[in-house]
Amino acid sequence: MWEVSGGPARTPMLEGKQVVVGVTGGIAAYKAAEVVSRLRQLGAEVHVIMTRAATQLVGPLTFQTLSGNPVLTDLFAEPKRWNVEHIALADRADLLLIVPATANILGKLASGIADDYLSTTVMATAAPVVLAPAMHHRMWQNPVVQENVQRLRRLGYEIIEPEHGRLASGGVGMGRLPDPPVIVEAVVRLLGGRRDLDGLKVLVTAGPTRERLDPVRYLSNFSSGKMGYALAAAACRRGAQVILISGPVVLEPPTGVELVAVESAEEMAAEVRRRVGEVKVVVMAAAVADYRPAEPSTRKLKRGPDELALRLVPNADILASLRTQKKDLFLVGFAAETEDLVANARAKLERKHLDLICANRVDLPGCGFGSDTNALTLIDRRGRVVEIPLQDKLKVAHAVWDHVVRMLAEDGGGCLPDP
Ligand code: CTP
Repeated sequence: MWEVSGGPARTPMLEGKQVVVGVTGGIAAYKAAEVVSRLRQLGAEVHVIMTRAATQLVGPLTFQTLSGNPVLTDLFAEPKRWNVEHIALADRADLLLIVPATANILGKLASGIADDYLSTTVMATAAPVVLAPAMHHRMWQNPVVQENVQRLRRLGYEIIEPEHGRLASGGVGMGRLPDPPVIVEAVVRLLGGRRDLDGLKVLVTAGPTRERLDPVRYLSNFSSGKMGYALAAAACRRGAQVILISGPVVLEPPTGVELVAVESAEEMAAEVRRRVGEVKVVVMAAAVADYRPAEPSTRKLKRGPDELALRLVPNADILASLRTQKKDLFLVGFAAETEDLVANARAKLERKHLDLICANRVDLPGCGFGSDTNALTLIDRRGRVVEIPLQDKLKVAHAVWDHVVRMLAEDGGGCLPDP
């Protein structure tokens, strides 16, 4: 975190790691220079491979100087260090990153074409390969490119999604390369060295709540708690101290997390308010019941011949009340939506004074309640909209924390422990 946000390095997180950076011929190639520089600052040994088109955009000397190693461009050039150089490099790499990745390289990798230094190295490596695509938005949305991306993801390539923003063509759309710190974060995470939440204490809520009708019946919802538990596990792995306040679920609590089990919305509200003073970040992933029975019966309700009307009273909105309780909290909410996702979620973000809202299309296959996968749209208070594509909930959780880390760094605090 510290290193990534540009502050002084405390420990070189990537010490001893070999990262091969492939640069292809997109206009964003200049941003790869900063990525190489940051990776080196983190202690990685960096080898750069440029495609011929990339060398038209940025001089190899730039990358040679920043990486401290010769830049590799020509498959048939005299080997500088090893015998079959691209194989040796593929063997030595702990991770291979292509930044920017053009539609061309995505197409080649998806179809098994190896016709230059970079594509042969990728084909020969057993290391994780991270692709950071960047291109014009219509190219990015082209069905062939999208199919290639899906295929590459299925084959195990890690894709850093491009962002929405101003493009080199002058237009605005999806296809912009994320800023170098975001790319470096992904590398650090994959190399297992990321402790970017060190010193941070967070509170995560998860699961449904149960609102009792009588001693044997309750009102609830289909939340499984998996997304909240994944968020707690991901934060813990990244060094955070985690309080997990959970409604009734059938999941094992993640190792290292402090679990507080609750049943109803009122109990959850009480526990959140009791513990919130200790933390910097609150993630409300719980599906809190909006209503509870007005008069829960202490005795089992008996079947009768008549209609039974239940009177419900609203539960307090836990999330909406937190900003007034503690001003400097970083608040993350969830919005389960079936339509007008971005507009509805943005309205919730504003109404509840949140920093970030994770909008969830609960009606789509593979998303939401009960599923092991999810897709989210993140909307932050700065107006950014980031799509997290359908994938394993733990990966989605890491992507949420990536955004939180980025916003905390932008706010200037980094992941400082509370005073
Ligand atoms: N939430 C909460 N307390 C409640 C209800 C919800 O803290 N009593 C939190 C949820 O944990 C979630 C966010 O508020 O992070 C959004 O909840 P949701 O039910 O989707 O939104 P509502 O504001 O209740 O709006 P609606 O039900 O009309 O969509």
